Amino acid sequence: MTDSEIPVAPARSDRRAPLHPDITEALIQRVVHRFYARVRADERLGPIFERRIGDHWAPHLDRMCDFWSSVLRMTGRYKGRPMPAHMKLKDVRPDDFERWLGLFRQTAREECAPDVAALFIDRAQRIAGSLSLAMFFDPARAGPSENTGA
Ligand code: HEM
Repeated sequence: MTDSEIPVAPARSDRRAPLHPDITEALIQRVVHRFYARVRADERLGPIFERRIGDHWAPHLDRMCDFWSSVLRMTGRYKGRPMPAHMKLKDVRPDDFERWLGLFRQTAREECAPDVAALFIDRAQRIAGSLSLAMFFDPARAGPSENTGA
């Protein structure tokens, strides 16, 4: 195989393209702001966020817009590390993730056309799965592996 046949990453402009042309920064702002308004009003999730964020909602919302811009528009705006930020949250329970996702799905479906909502929801579900695994998976409680070597 010559060098020119080796599959390479698409050109920079392609790699940074939004996953869907309708996913604009303005749409991300609407979804993020509406979603966190709902989270704050939620009797279970609201207090978890208020304890960490208190009076600093503006920078949190900006950070979350950057996060979704990176996830869905490939802009690289978000430079943070979600995993350690969530590992610190000792008041979160596993079923809180289903609650979070329920509010997120509702918001995405209200703000976006169905195909765009599906992209938001798919990425949120996958990331929620990784965060929740990192926070709650306990190898000591998991069943024995299929591959016991016996
Ligand atoms: C039960 C579900 C969740 C709860 C209770 C929760 C709570 C929080 C809280 C309290 C913070 C602020 C942490 C701090 O500033 O110290 C935070 C940050 C953040 N969350 Fe979540 N979260 C949840 C699920 C998710 C999911 C599913 C995503 C992604 C799809 C996500 C993405 C983020 C990001 C990107 C940050 C900013 C981290 C940073 O850069 O500091 N969260 N979350």
